[in-house]
Amino acid sequence: MGDIEVFNTVVSLQSKLQSDYKKSKVGLVPTMGALHEGHMTLVQKSIEQNDCTIVSIFVNPTQFNNPSDLEKYPRNMDRDLELLKEQGDVIVFAPSVLEVYPDNYQTVKLDLGQMGLVMEGKFREGHFDGVVNVVNRLFEIVSPTHAYFGLKDFQQLAVIQFMTEKFSLDVKIVGCEIFREKSGLASSSRNQRLDESQLDKALVISLVLNQAKMSAKSKSIQEVIDEAKGTFEASSLELEYFQIVNPRTLMDLDEWIPGAHACVAAYCGKVRLLDNLQMTST
Ligand code: PAF
Repeated sequence: MGDIEVFNTVVSLQSKLQSDYKKSKVGLVPTMGALHEGHMTLVQKSIEQNDCTIVSIFVNPTQFNNPSDLEKYPRNMDRDLELLKEQGDVIVFAPSVLEVYPDNYQTVKLDLGQMGLVMEGKFREGHFDGVVNVVNRLFEIVSPTHAYFGLKDFQQLAVIQFMTEKFSLDVKIVGCEIFREKSGLASSSRNQRLDESQLDKALVISLVLNQAKMSAKSKSIQEVIDEAKGTFEASSLELEYFQIVNPRTLMDLDEWIPGAHACVAAYCGKVRLLDNLQMTST
């Protein structure tokens, strides 16, 4: 069991960091709460690699394009703190919207080019503008040496890496493998909104990805995409996209390249789920 200290204001967090962790390795794990085992792998990695670990818990309103998704986003601070306590010593930063975006806040603009227009960028307008702003702001508040993001949000990680390079930020971005339930379902805070039967139905996502990876050994990209879409059509999920992309540029591929990545978004009932899998070795 570790010690958890919770800070709600920028000033109190910064004075703690100034007094105890000046010149230290500081790991930041940005989250929107509703923590699960996937987050815990990020927290563990940060604890291993740094002198102190800060977990931010902030449901960022600017990255939700759908008000009902924001309203329904699961929140459970007490449980989050319990889970974090089991990991070790952690500083929790749980600010209000006004702490993150004070009245004099200047919105940051970053042209993501094509990367911002595909997949999540296409289906969730403005989403990455929100992510760029909140992550940049958290970096400004915490000045971490390392920051941890899950590979489940594959495009988000690419966007954050791009932002870090463009703004010449002095922080190492660490991508962490997707944590999967025994069933194969990728861990996500949104899974908490699925009932028993939906948890079962959602398994089609990881099943299709694994099937696609097998097929990638002998079939063309178009054949793999058609097969995947066919499986979704026969399922009760509503597919938003299934794309096979270049892992760096996120552009659709028509020929296999090393590290080709399949990315999926699908609705299971009203819950939108994401997953991805590397199709070919690097
Ligand atoms: O991946 C998430 O939970 C969020 O997009 C993040 C990175 C915490 C920014 O709000």
